Amino acid sequence: MNHDLWTALDGYIAEHLLPPDPVLDAVLAASDAAGLPPIGITPNQGKLLELLARIHGAHSILELGTLGGYSTIWLARALPEGGRLITLEREPHYAALASANISSAGLADTVQVRVGPALQTLPELHGEGAGPFDMIFIDADKQNYPGYLEWSLELSRVGTLIVGDNVVRAGAILDPKAEDPSFEDGGIAAGVRRFYELLAAEPRVSATAIQTVGAKGHDGFALALVTAL
Ligand code: DHB
Ligand code: MG
Repeated sequence: MNHDLWTALDGYIAEHLLPPDPVLDAVLAASDAAGLPPIGITPNQGKLLELLARIHGAHSILELGTLGGYSTIWLARALPEGGRLITLEREPHYAALASANISSAGLADTVQVRVGPALQTLPELHGEGAGPFDMIFIDADKQNYPGYLEWSLELSRVGTLIVGDNVVRAGAILDPKAEDPSFEDGGIAAGVRRFYELLAAEPRVSATAIQTVGAKGHDGFALALVTAL
């Protein structure tokens, strides 16, 4: 309803608070030119993720859903010397572009892009002893958010911060039709609803969600701190 205003304010905030960033501009341009869907986070959201990682003192980050690597770069920039980030992407051509983007951001030695469905890669990571991660950003297909949360907990320690993107979806999660398996969104809202239900029933986390508005419309981030394992 107020989308133009939210977008203008997003621009105002970014112009004031985010320094010019030719590297990230080039990443967005390359992602656009390659035909990636325009579903990445906004610059202000990237800065929020970077600040959360820094506030948390994260040395290791796991990301589910790389797309073109834009959020990956924001998160990786928050890491101290010697920090590491693993990002999981199902689509090989997204992963290839993300790897190129991450290299042009000078982060090739910090970030590992792993190609494949995350529900396959996550157990592999667990088997490799890759965790625990200090922070986990879940931003892949919403239908699998419940499984992603379960695996995130397997790759967590007490104190891990789990962030989930797109947990409001302009209110679509409230639509009762979300529970109908034939609903046209293909199970997105149902996946997010199961994610909330899991969080609610999960004694190992302390969680909330914050609604956001901006250039990407009305959405939100879930924040869950692992408090026990
Ligand atoms: C959409 C937005 C996202 O941030 C995402 O992770 C997936 C899809 C969307 O707007 O459709
Ligand atoms: Mg998202």
